[in-house]
Amino acid sequence: MDFSNRQNRLVRLEEVSQSYLASIAEKTQNDPFYPSYHIAPPHGLVNDPNGLSYFNGEHHIFYQWFPLGPVHGLKHWYHVSTKDFVNFNDRGVTMVPELSYEEHGCYTGVGVPHEDELLLYYTANRFDEEKNVHQTQALAVMDKQGNLTKKGVVVEENREQFTCEFRDPILVPRSDNYFMLVGAQGIDEKGKLAAYKGHSLNEFDYLGNIDVGLEDFGYMWECPNYYEEQDKGTFIFSPQGVTSESKYDLNNVFSVVYMVGEQIDFETQRFEHQGWFELDKGFDFYAPQTYLDEQGRRILLGWLGNSKSEYPTDKNMWAHMLTLPRELKIEGNRIAQFPLPELEGLRSESLAVKESTELKNASFELEFEVDGEFSLSLENQVGDKMTFAGTNDELILDRTGVTHLHAEAFGSVRYAQRLVNEQRIRIFVDNSSIEIFADNGLTVFTSRLFIDDLSQLKVAGLNECKLHYLKSMKLSGDGYQKTVVEKAQA
Ligand code: FRU
Repeated sequence: MDFSNRQNRLVRLEEVSQSYLASIAEKTQNDPFYPSYHIAPPHGLVNDPNGLSYFNGEHHIFYQWFPLGPVHGLKHWYHVSTKDFVNFNDRGVTMVPELSYEEHGCYTGVGVPHEDELLLYYTANRFDEEKNVHQTQALAVMDKQGNLTKKGVVVEENREQFTCEFRDPILVPRSDNYFMLVGAQGIDEKGKLAAYKGHSLNEFDYLGNIDVGLEDFGYMWECPNYYEEQDKGTFIFSPQGVTSESKYDLNNVFSVVYMVGEQIDFETQRFEHQGWFELDKGFDFYAPQTYLDEQGRRILLGWLGNSKSEYPTDKNMWAHMLTLPRELKIEGNRIAQFPLPELEGLRSESLAVKESTELKNASFELEFEVDGEFSLSLENQVGDKMTFAGTNDELILDRTGVTHLHAEAFGSVRYAQRLVNEQRIRIFVDNSSIEIFADNGLTVFTSRLFIDDLSQLKVAGLNECKLHYLKSMKLSGDGYQKTVVEKAQA
């Protein structure tokens, strides 16, 4: 099926044959760039993580999925769950865009555990006959057995205040009330954070827009995320249309920004904070979501990708993956990110790295100490490479030399100010992705890298460097068969 011009992006699962799915699944799984321990689609395109929650004894991860090819088409919610981030239960498609109000996409939303159910608030996307977009906020409810019931629209369009860009609801519970926040574009064509007050879990009234102290900060705010901890409020969002003169900030097509401040005051509709920071300094990171687990950890997963550019994996009919799960900790007015300890369960063989090393495969973790200048390079036999280096003042990720460069219009080097001299750095590589945790979690670079036959690690200035090869995650269950294959034509 040809998607080169985004044609066919509204084709439905039941309109294709099982053999078409089998052929794109095979291409996807055989692609050497397909990850081994990251959540990625069986085929087709993944973008935002959705409905992240700890419910009924498991972590639930849903994601935006277009099944049929590597484009932003008709979005479904795919669902996996896990207890340990090594073994995953494949639950298949949970949300299909099938009812009139959501027929052109079940867009991004959140999961809210409530009594014996998981409430899923999401954006219902629909095109009318003139191809105009209509976005409303809808509710679906999942029970402990995983059965989903759609409850319909709970927040209608609000075209007096906003354009058709009105999506990605989240719920903010307060002691005796609920508020809903929605990312939006105002009729002045600026990004807004819309606030609604809940009379019940499915009845909300427009309250106003939260004043975040950023008057002119992009044309649309996607994927708002807000949580309260240590009497503080943390707001993370994905603004579109913001740029910066600084080489350190906002260099991707779209960015993710956060602020730590007071808790939102819904009376005055204000959010007071001490300034914004970019959450990730890499090339491919967008639309993250967070949730609280049973141990009280605030966990984040993001889309390990960014708005569409050509990817070398398109020809194999898949695109993107999710990031690793990370625990967030607030430090002053900053967020620090740490890979979840559960990921140590992926480790197989470990070795000490002293100098340049031949790699057995490209799914591994590196841990090392630095106390001054350093560099490391991931390469193949013909010298295609990506480098990560530290000077005394900067951390620098350079993918100029990879085999297949993408999104090069936005540059191929990323810089961050180095915040800590003596530190332990952790890096996760998974065939075509890299996640670097530096500056004690305060600086993270998340990126794709496409190097054919990645086989060499070259290092300089690293102390006590350890390399851990990582096993594949295990995905079991018949969700894919039952909810995807059986829907297609036999
Ligand atoms: C962000 C986003 C959301 C939207 C979803 C659709 O990547 O554009 O705003 O709900 O993706 O897939």
